Amino acid sequence: MTSFSLLLWIVFGIALQLALWLSIGFWHHWLNYLALRSRGAELNVPTGQDARRASEKAGVGPRQDFRTFRVDRKVMEDAAHSVCSFYLVPEDGQPLPTFLPGQFLTFRLDAPASAGDSEQIIRCYSLSDAPCPDYYRISIKRMPAPLGSDVPPGRSSNYFHDRITAGSLLQVRVPSGHFHIDRGDTPVVLVAGGIGITPMLSMLNWCLSEQPGRELWLFYGVRDGRELVMKAHLEALAAKHPNFHLHLCFSNPLPEEIAGRDYQHRGRIDVGLLRMQLPFRSYHFYICGPAPMMESLVPALEEWGVPDSHIHFEAFGPASIKRKQAQASPVAEAADTGIVVTFARSGKQLPWRPDAGSLLEFAEANGIAVNSGCRAGSCGTCQTAIRTGEVSYREPPDFDPEPGSCLLCVGVPRTSVTLEV
Ligand SMILES: Cc1cc2nc3c(=O)[nH]c(=O)nc-3n(C[C@H](O)[C@H](O)[C@H](O)COP(=O)(O)OP(=O)(O)OC[C@H]3O[C@@H](n4cnc5c(N)ncnc54)[C@H](O)[C@@H]3O)c2cc1C
Ligand code: FES
Repeated sequence: MTSFSLLLWIVFGIALQLALWLSIGFWHHWLNYLALRSRGAELNVPTGQDARRASEKAGVGPRQDFRTFRVDRKVMEDAAHSVCSFYLVPEDGQPLPTFLPGQFLTFRLDAPASAGDSEQIIRCYSLSDAPCPDYYRISIKRMPAPLGSDVPPGRSSNYFHDRITAGSLLQVRVPSGHFHIDRGDTPVVLVAGGIGITPMLSMLNWCLSEQPGRELWLFYGVRDGRELVMKAHLEALAAKHPNFHLHLCFSNPLPEEIAGRDYQHRGRIDVGLLRMQLPFRSYHFYICGPAPMMESLVPALEEWGVPDSHIHFEAFGPASIKRKQAQASPVAEAADTGIVVTFARSGKQLPWRPDAGSLLEFAEANGIAVNSGCRAGSCGTCQTAIRTGEVSYREPPDFDPEPGSCLLCVGVPRTSVTLEV
């Protein structure tokens, strides 16, 4: 045998070994793949396109499932009789999914429509008590029509107050939301305006029972004492826990209400009040209230030097809270970029105006009807598929839209976009 043929034999041997090794590896992967596939089918775990097709067919994703709850009891919570609590228990008697203090429930209601029939509406309500295995509690403020207007009063809130009684059945989606208290030991400042007290009650009740030594402040703003929700409960907590500091702020106290006895501060809650009252240390701030309160307080806290990661807030409706970080956002840049929004089904192509608000407001202003519920990124009703382009949000919304979709009520275009509606 020549040295050349010996070399050929050696190369042939190495190639054969390599081929054998690759085939065995491939065979192992193939067996693993088959095993995983059959296990996925057993567990009914759809993947990729299967999942999308399944949810398209059903019209809703699993997160959108509603469950029937029965109203166990109804309790009026304020002297003005405008806030009512509803205690909800699951109709099927199965355990309640727990929640994080500050989260909310989403309701699908058949509310009366103007023509005398009913119409389905979606609304969110914060859980207003600490998690417990027996019930969920929500507390709802009746929304009157704005003074001097001829528009109808709030549909969901009045429906709850007037038509929902003990024994009524409600369709409820599991608790969700990114606004919830942290579990650390940094002191906490809760700031509530009006009905914004509801998530704070959940945080407060949870914190005082689970973290009894944690320093806790509540600044609670209302017009006068008749609007205070669960006043006796709050005062009892403050009397029992020396680490809980309750500050009631009345913007327009009644003549018989006395400072120091009925309330601590006259006026609205602002950063000046917080700076005056809070000892100099690090806090986590949780804020929920009317849009003007949050739109002024959040940037003012940032100005004061509170880190972004320590300011948490929730809006119960449309609000445009501008964080320092967000001021250089695509919203501001959009003015020069010639962004065009195409509403595919409506056949409209429109130049985007940065002052147009959200994509939902932009669509409505241009005569395009879009289903909406909370208008705050919480319920998912305005979810719309994006055909091309990108949409961004000032704050991550509570509801996570499906991949390839966006929430119009809190979204703005980052680039030119084509939307399904
Ligand atoms: C995450 C989250 C949590 C929430 N938690 C709570 C809570 O704990 N408690 C609570 O009470 N609320 C809460 N809300 C608010 C709640 O979801 C509803 O928005 C609120 O109850 C009002 O709904 P409504 O259907 O009664 O009023 P809507 O029918 O939505 O009307 C709202 C207002 O608009 C007026 N109006 C009606 N038609 C027109 C028109 N054509 N033009 C101008 N104005 C008009 C109405 O008179 C009313 O004053 C929460 C919202 C979110 C997003
Ligand atoms: S309307 Fe509720 S998420 Fe947009």
